[in-house]
Amino acid sequence: MIYFDQAATSIPMLPAVIDEMVHTMEHIGANPGRGTHALGVQASDIVLRTRSKACDVFGVQHVNQCLFFSSATVSLNQAILGYPWEEGDHVIVSTMEHNAVRRPLEVAKQRYNINITYIHWTGNKEEFVAQIKQHITPHTKMIALTHASNVTGDILPVEEICKGVSETKEITTLVDASQTIGHISIDMTKSNIDMLAFPGHKGLRGPKGIGMLLVNKEIELSPIHFGGSGGQALSTSPPIEWPQRFETGTMNVPAIAGLYASLCNMEKHMKENVSRETKLVTNIQAALEKIDNIVVYGPSIHDQRVPVVAFNIKDVDSEEVALILDAHYDIAVRAGLHCNALGHETLHTTDQGVIRASINATNVEEEVQTFIQAVQEIAASYKQLD
Ligand SMILES: Cc1ncc(COP(=O)(O)O)c(C=O)c1O
Repeated sequence: MIYFDQAATSIPMLPAVIDEMVHTMEHIGANPGRGTHALGVQASDIVLRTRSKACDVFGVQHVNQCLFFSSATVSLNQAILGYPWEEGDHVIVSTMEHNAVRRPLEVAKQRYNINITYIHWTGNKEEFVAQIKQHITPHTKMIALTHASNVTGDILPVEEICKGVSETKEITTLVDASQTIGHISIDMTKSNIDMLAFPGHKGLRGPKGIGMLLVNKEIELSPIHFGGSGGQALSTSPPIEWPQRFETGTMNVPAIAGLYASLCNMEKHMKENVSRETKLVTNIQAALEKIDNIVVYGPSIHDQRVPVVAFNIKDVDSEEVALILDAHYDIAVRAGLHCNALGHETLHTTDQGVIRASINATNVEEEVQTFIQAVQEIAASYKQLD
């Protein structure tokens, strides 16, 4: 099997991640923050050292504001639905947002009567930055942006935008780094990113079932889940203290241990692999662009990007092509809408979807060649049907 669906979830996980997880499951396995026994203390240490690692790696001021959730999606829900909205508040987002941002925002709109402006992404960064600036009003409380599109691999100029509003303390910046984590270095303090969400299982090659929301500003966030957190059991309200205020239920300690291993490896991984990944993905795109009947979406081969390429074979249903790649060539890609209806509206591909090939450092040039050969054959077979 050639696995070109790394933007959905990465396979295989890093060996160091698996080792950490297995060790934790075999030798620790207890609940952090609940028991005072030795195993509980060890589990708490794993959680704390991972929080501290995230704090260091991403330039967060307070370790207690590095929060664990079960995914990037839940982290984004917490950031958006836990925000202290008031009626009439305004939020700016791009038209490339994943449903993990769009849906909670639309819920917040219904719940709190806020206004949302979607800024059209054309691929032109200067125009996009100017559009965002133009749409800021005295009511704007949040700018929420995906760092890179999960459909096309475009990188949005989030750092420039976040830095640009650093003087405006009323505006909170929220970045969905699901597709850039492990590909692009992020320092929240330097870039004026107030909240950052990411999952363990994509570019970090870490575990599923874990994500983080990092908060680098004083924000009166309210929890979106309620239940046990190991402290203040007599109170009917959640604890005031962070992170206990938000982290309800038994924590996924093996996944947190695995995330620690992937965060420890992140810098080395980026140094060694990002340019290779970029070369592989631009090789794919350059070869696709030479095939008759193929439309490629997103950045040009010269643009900075994450290792994702989106394309279609003329007007053929993208799911059909993905099915052929899987059944006849043993190649896994993702087709359809990629949980991103907005992005597809932007690309005018809502009916057809797109075929998305996404790679990482474990993929090799030989796989790229096999993939290109397969797409050439499929495209040629549809041409014969014309
Ligand atoms: C841009 C973006 N945001 C959010 C998510 C949600 O991530 P998760 O499924 O890990 O919660 C994804 C996953 O594909 C994504 O690509």
